[in-house]
Parts: sequence; C-alpha cells; structure tokens
Amino acid sequence: MSSSSDIDLPLLRDRLVSIALQAGVMITSATPTTTSSGTKKNTADLVTETDQAVEAYISKELKTLYPTFSFMGEETYKPGMQLGPEPTFIVDPIDGTTNFVHRHPYISISLGFAVNRVPVVGVVYNPFTGKLYTGVKGRGSYVSTIRDGKTHGEEIRLPLKGSEALTGLDSCIVIIEWGSDRSGSNWKVKCDTWARLGQSKDEGGAMVHSARALGSAALNMCAVAEGTLDVYWEGGCWAWDVCAGWVILTEAGGIVVDGNPGSWEVDVDHRIYLAVRGAKEGQKELVEEFWSYVEGEMVYPH
Ligand code: IPD
Repeated sequence: MSSSSDIDLPLLRDRLVSIALQAGVMITSATPTTTSSGTKKNTADLVTETDQAVEAYISKELKTLYPTFSFMGEETYKPGMQLGPEPTFIVDPIDGTTNFVHRHPYISISLGFAVNRVPVVGVVYNPFTGKLYTGVKGRGSYVSTIRDGKTHGEEIRLPLKGSEALTGLDSCIVIIEWGSDRSGSNWKVKCDTWARLGQSKDEGGAMVHSARALGSAALNMCAVAEGTLDVYWEGGCWAWDVCAGWVILTEAGGIVVDGNPGSWEVDVDHRIYLAVRGAKEGQKELVEEFWSYVEGEMVYPH
C-alpha cells in the first residue's frame, strides 16, 4: 500500500500549480462551445469542448510526470468507476461549467490528489480573477493572486479572517447549490431545508444571514476555507468537485462532515457534504444546529 509520506507532496503541489496556470490560459482564451450533445444527464448538466480539451491536457501532463498514479476526471469518468487506495489525481477541468457557458467568471480548475482515498494535496485556480488556492496535508493552505502567469503580492495563509467563534446559524452566510438533479426526494430535501434555513425564527426557521449559490463547489470550499463564507451544504456533487478544496479547507481549520445528519467523518466520494469554516469555538454546535434543520435524507449513489 502506498503512503503519502513516500511522495514529495510540495513538489507535486508545485507541478499542479504549473498545470493549473497553463489550463487557465486555455480557458480564458476559449469561446465556450458546447459539445455536439451539449449536455450530460439533462439540460442543466453542461459540458463544453473546453472542459474536454483541458482535461485531456491535464491528464496527459500528469501521466508524463507520474506514470504509475491513477487519474479520475469529470469528463472521462464512467459510471461504476471507484476511487481506490492508490495515489490518484482527482480533477475537474472546469468546475463551474454553467458559469463558463454564461461567461460568469466564477469558475475554477480543481486539481486534487488523494492517497488511500484521503485528500492530501489541493490546487484550485480561478483564471478569470487570478485567485490561486493551494493546500498540502500537514503544511497549511494559502491563497495568492496570479497576474501575467506570476504570483503578484504575497501568499497569504488561510484562514483570512482568523478563526472567529461560530455563534450560530443566525450569524452565518450559507452556500447552497441547486446542482443539476431537480426532481424527486433529493430535490424536496434541498428545497425544504433551504426554506427552513432562511425562515424567520418566529416561524421555526434558522434565519441565516443569507444564502449564496455561486456555481463552483471547489471555490465554495475555498471561500469557507478563507472564512469569508461560513458554511457550504450540498448533495449530488462528486469527488472531483471537492477533493482539492477539501485539503485547502481542512488545512485552514475547517471540517467536512455528512450533509445528512449523523456522520462526523465522510469519504471524499460521499457526494453529500456539509463544510464548516475554522473557528476557535462553536464548530461542533453549528454542525448539530445545521443537521437539526435538514428536512429528510438525501440519497446519491457512489
Ligand atoms: C458543478 C459545480 C456546482 C455544483 C454541482 C457541480 P461542474 O460542477 O461545482 O457548483 O452545484 O454539483 O456538479 O459540473 O460545473 O464541474
């Protein structure tokens, strides 16, 4: 069995950063053109030629640099593929494809790396804003700004806001996402839970400060890692949406638990997540409070 201590993780991170910056050039110079089918499972699940070209570029580079490691990418994933214990790159070439198609600049290249199914390196890069997030397990996570292919200004350790105490959902901004599954019981759980989160306390709700649906799971994880947004809850996303951000968040003191009430530890391919920012106190209480507002249980096959 491989161990992450056998691998030079900072070097691997630096290589992922170089690949992300080059992929960023491909994305910012492209015109979003949907593929011949344009969609995957439905009209809200989009794929462009750029998603496919960027994934092909990333997997080719990684195969050359790390020929024995496995690769799992959104655009080449086939139903039934499972994440194994071997060192594996977990990649979303464009996280936020819907934003990309609409020319809304909240997208990222999400490059994660897991060993024994545990995320250990994460690089998330938004080529439109130049924001680059990196994390290596045990070595912290950082944000910097890239201009003209180079780091501009200092690299800042996360979280940005320190680790202010969490005092309850009524002082949090919560990120929710519609995702592309819009029917059945999963959709009902989401809608009913969103309603309760926002609703006034007099009527039994949590009355969160506000909710955001920004369209890139990886950047959502990074916003929670920064501490500029407090909580992210989603069911239905995949390991490639969260693997890189997972390292960045947990290295900033944040946690990822089950999006359904109950489990404090979940795997990266669990598909139902609740991410909470780092805090000197109140994290556990906030998770329990959130779970008390989840209306039912989401079910997504792995
Ligand atoms: C999607 C985004 C979105 C999330 C979906 C993901 P994609 O990834 O991360 O924010 O709500 O669950 O599938 O399709 O743009 O790579």
